[in-house]
Amino acid sequence: MNKTIIVSNRLPLQIKLNEDKLEIKPSVGGLATGMKSVHAEGDSLWIGWSGLTEEELNEPLRNQVKNAVKKENCASVSLTRKDVDNFYFGFSNKTLWPLFHYFLEYTSFEKENWESYKKVNQKFADVVIENIEDGDTVWVHDYQLLLLPGLIKKEKPNTSIGFFLHIPFPSFEIFRTFPWREEILTGMLGSDLLGFHTYDYERHFLSSVKRILRLDVHFNEISFHDRVIKVDSFPMGIDYKKFHEAAKKHISQPPKERSETQKRLDDHIQASPNTKLVLSIDRLDYTKGIPNRIKAFEYFLDKYPEYKEKVRLIMLSVPSRSNVPQYQLLKKETDELVGRINGKFATVSWTPIWYFYRSLAFETLIDLYTAASVAFITPVRDGMNLVAKEYVATRVNKDGVLILSEMAGAAKEMSEALLINPNNFEQIADTLKKALEMPQEEQERRISILQKRLERYSVERWAQEFMKSLNSTKKLTEVYVSK
Ligand code: G6P
Repeated sequence: MNKTIIVSNRLPLQIKLNEDKLEIKPSVGGLATGMKSVHAEGDSLWIGWSGLTEEELNEPLRNQVKNAVKKENCASVSLTRKDVDNFYFGFSNKTLWPLFHYFLEYTSFEKENWESYKKVNQKFADVVIENIEDGDTVWVHDYQLLLLPGLIKKEKPNTSIGFFLHIPFPSFEIFRTFPWREEILTGMLGSDLLGFHTYDYERHFLSSVKRILRLDVHFNEISFHDRVIKVDSFPMGIDYKKFHEAAKKHISQPPKERSETQKRLDDHIQASPNTKLVLSIDRLDYTKGIPNRIKAFEYFLDKYPEYKEKVRLIMLSVPSRSNVPQYQLLKKETDELVGRINGKFATVSWTPIWYFYRSLAFETLIDLYTAASVAFITPVRDGMNLVAKEYVATRVNKDGVLILSEMAGAAKEMSEALLINPNNFEQIADTLKKALEMPQEEQERRISILQKRLERYSVERWAQEFMKSLNSTKKLTEVYVSK
């Protein structure tokens, strides 16, 4: 039986080393959930990095990892500490991530990191090739593995390969600054199908292919060597049912079964019934517009002082990539801003910002989503943003307002949200006021439309549509003749 091989930088497992003991649990991230239907189907294999370096694992532990991931239909790619420094922290997160999010000033072009990126993509290719059989389909994910489709196609020309980019593809004017632009595009073109979240990213990619590689592009098809490559947009959704049902269960839960956070939130609501909660959740990343959000909140409190003690911002920032200097600086800036604004406005009974720097369990996220009157999501650049979708899914009573940056891919499908420009504090302050004062019927109307759309285009459907399209490109795929 033919199988599907899924490849992503991280495996859908959280593997930790705790005093020489391995702790392994399934991860609950968007991709892991999204690919569940594909991965659970018959014969499939997921290839990725375990999250631990070769230096951290002695021989017995390495075997334990190997066997444990095998049980989950996974295979791990082994990376050294140096690989992680240069490929993951270096090229992936100091070059591609900032460049593709339009942060040119944060982008470093280090030759050593580029060499490591090539080497590690080859390591992934070796594991894929070792496991591939005729007729298998491969689905590669995200910016850490842009060269992988080309490396696989070179060795296994008859394999059908799909690639999905989870972050934005930048405009040609940004992409052209990249020293290794031809190699990256050629690597991506090893695929038979290339997927993006939005039509804009797809259009930017096609424009770079035309202008840099000078290839023929007809609508969304590229002629490359003897092959036709299809490019399309597939906006990623969420597991709508999971969030909606969890919120329903949460609301009907008797008070004594409530979690600690929920009890604290209940206390807060009882103590200050007129204080509304505004929620933001993201990884602590400079693309998420966290300083802008805090400053815009300050601007709001200055402009509309009647809201002092009537509103509170709950800001959850999940630690991320903390070895990269820009993330350390952002952490410092965020801490200082929160401190300054709380110092400026707090009263004996009210702190304007509740700030959490940690990751929280799923149930606690549901507590926060269901307690918040407004979701305040203001990235300066974001491939999609699934938090916006999760918030909407948890609004079982159809109340609540979503404020969403127009720079997030999700904004393209969520025009019923209140869309803002994350750099326009005046507009954000006015929109926040509008959200807090929005009549119930209008909240219901907006949330209902959004919910219907999210329920229909769930993450399961996203994966199925991609696979359907990839299977249909098989017909277009002729035997690839390497140059
Ligand atoms: C984004 C990327 C993913 C990445 C995730 C977490 O969503 O598109 O590829 O896995 O961030 O980042 P990390 O660097 O911790 O894997």
